[in-house]
Amino acid sequence: MRISEIPLVVVRGAPAGPQLDHRPMNIHPLISQTQIADAVSELGARITEDFQERNLTVLSILTGSIVFVTDLMRRIAIPHQLGLVQASSYRGTTTSPAELRLNLDWLPELRGRDLLLVDDIFDTGKTLSTIRSRLEEFEPASIHSAVLLWKKSRTVVDMTPDYFCFEIPDEFVVGYGLDFNNHYRHLPYIGIVSDE
Ligand code: IMP
Ligand code: MG
Repeated sequence: MRISEIPLVVVRGAPAGPQLDHRPMNIHPLISQTQIADAVSELGARITEDFQERNLTVLSILTGSIVFVTDLMRRIAIPHQLGLVQASSYRGTTTSPAELRLNLDWLPELRGRDLLLVDDIFDTGKTLSTIRSRLEEFEPASIHSAVLLWKKSRTVVDMTPDYFCFEIPDEFVVGYGLDFNNHYRHLPYIGIVSDE
């Protein structure tokens, strides 16, 4: 069935006009789809080279890394396993520091494996550094990290990403998995959010 043939269901009595749950923002392109694809290919090739003869497990930090990790995996030309770590930080009050909640229930066996933590962005670095210490309890052979974006000027932890595709300025960005209030993850490029 073609889209034009799908019958339209008209809900009578519904309020006129769409009820948007978000206010559309302006997005200024920062990194194009082609630049991302080239950088992800290059990163996949480096990881393929660096993890030859190792027992690689890629750990995707959800939700932001979802687009990046699926593209990256297809550029890693050696057998590897995939695990998922769900991470969400929330702030109780404006004065208390953000607390990181982790769900480690979806992990495969990590003991003796070479772990590669994959996240969308390394901002302050607190998320990856916390996850890294938690994963040490599983006694892996090694832990490395790969991110698409690194806001280098914002780093506050004693850790830097082992692999990154782009260093970016201190701007709030969306697209390719990164969100603003859970919107804009679908954009195929990275853009800066602005009110103008
Ligand atoms: P960190 O713990 O400060 O490194 O923050 C990492 C998390 O903050 C990322 O996984 C993102 O979810 C979020 N984040 C930081 N900067 C941005 C941004 O510019 N756009 C969207 N999310 C961001
Ligand atoms: Mg995130």
